[in-house]
Amino acid sequence: MEVKLEHLTKIFPGRKTKEGISEDVHAVDDMSIVVPDGKLLGLLGPSGCGKSTTLYMIAGLHKPTGGKIWFGDLDVTNVPPENRGIGLVFQNYALYPHLSVRQNIQFPLYNVRPKLSKEEMETLAQEAANLVDIGNLLDRKPKELSGGQQQRVAIARALAKRPRVLLLDEPLSNLDARLRLQTREEIKRIQRSSGVTTVFVTHDQEEAMSISDVIVVMNHGVVQQIDEPQTVYDEPANLFVAKFLGNPAINIFEGELKAGKLYIDGKLFDSGYKSKGKFSLLDEGIFQIAAEFGFKPSFEEYMTMLNGEAVKPFVPTKGNPVPSNEPEKIPFVLTLENIYLYVSENGCHLKAEDFKQKVFSYRASLGVNRPVRIGIRPESFSLVKVESEGIIPLDIRYIEHIGRDISIIGNVHDQENSKVRVIIPSELRKDILGKDRIDMFAKRFYVFEESGERIK
Ligand SMILES: Nc1ncnc2c1ncn2[C@@H]1O[C@H](COP(=O)(O)OP(=O)(O)OP(=O)(O)O)[C@@H](O)[C@H]1O
Ligand SMILES: [Mg+2]
Repeated sequence: MEVKLEHLTKIFPGRKTKEGISEDVHAVDDMSIVVPDGKLLGLLGPSGCGKSTTLYMIAGLHKPTGGKIWFGDLDVTNVPPENRGIGLVFQNYALYPHLSVRQNIQFPLYNVRPKLSKEEMETLAQEAANLVDIGNLLDRKPKELSGGQQQRVAIARALAKRPRVLLLDEPLSNLDARLRLQTREEIKRIQRSSGVTTVFVTHDQEEAMSISDVIVVMNHGVVQQIDEPQTVYDEPANLFVAKFLGNPAINIFEGELKAGKLYIDGKLFDSGYKSKGKFSLLDEGIFQIAAEFGFKPSFEEYMTMLNGEAVKPFVPTKGNPVPSNEPEKIPFVLTLENIYLYVSENGCHLKAEDFKQKVFSYRASLGVNRPVRIGIRPESFSLVKVESEGIIPLDIRYIEHIGRDISIIGNVHDQENSKVRVIIPSELRKDILGKDRIDMFAKRFYVFEESGERIK
């Protein structure tokens, strides 16, 4: 059965504290996703991004602030949890220590209406236990099981009711690395053979990559990307996704777009970025957006003020004063933050972050010269020239051997604070031996706006 979330939102209202009322928490923000029938969807994101909250809304344990939840053609948004036909494994799954494995698995079956007979319950428990390979452990107590076996009991308990939807909240978090891997494969096998539509929550990118049919990447309650695992890795939608997926992490370089060409450290890295508009010295984007919210001085007027000719400057109550001999002429530095303070005192209700995003995208749409970020995955370098112009001159610091591969750790030539990791096959070791500087060619790279939006 397909599960569909439509503009799902959860806001936890602020609480009264000594300092006043704390801010509302937008745990899940306008989330729209589809879990295809019989598939496993991995919900991936850092701690606190809203994964559990999403899962609990699907389960019916949290009431959404807005939006709808569909199970097939049925709107279940207001259906109580026990009538949704879900199996849930909690993040901190807990088995009843005084009950046997059999009784633990049967526990949720007591609530099934019409009432099940003893024999029916026995059969369902046995089937669920067989599915996770613990059919021979039914008479034991939880403490007589290994961690992985306990975990499987929790999964069997969720499966026993023959749920239409299986919801797993970090079900492997308490296992050691080897067991984690083993149980992960187990879950995939169970999910495939039972064909139950599943949402699997994890903050572990590797786990999500290996187990999911579809991955949803979340950050701060907002969906960043929905795609098949390989696509999320190969074609990250934005800087956040690019950085979140991949171990070792992607290398990020500061670059600059100037007149349609991309530079790293002043050297041409890539050409062929069409500019859409004119270029300007100062950031016209800021003025344009600020003007929408009653920011009075125009670009020209501000320049005049900078030249000390203005008579009546605007003075926000907050903001950083400029250390100047004539403070009355230029009251504050025109930074994004100060402009934001100004416009929020003049009726702009945008959140600081949203204001910033708006400015960033406006600036990008103008095509003005601007700083950008360039992402190159460690495995995307070549020692020999490839077609793209992208060259990173690398000072080698040290080399790590990891089985088949070699990791070269270094920095961009003459930029001590930069850190670059390059992974090459170990048979190329001879090509770098004894060298302390080497030109690396980027086979593949991504370009992001400062806002994180991907542009190449
Ligand atoms: N009952 C609640 N009341 C207020 N805020 C809450 C509540 N539950 C969660 N939150 C907040 O909502 C946000 C999302 O929490 P959630 O538990 O969904 O994150 P998560 O992605 O599951 O994180 P983790 O990986 O650490 O489990 C967090 O900022 C959290 O503090
Ligand atoms: Mg959680």
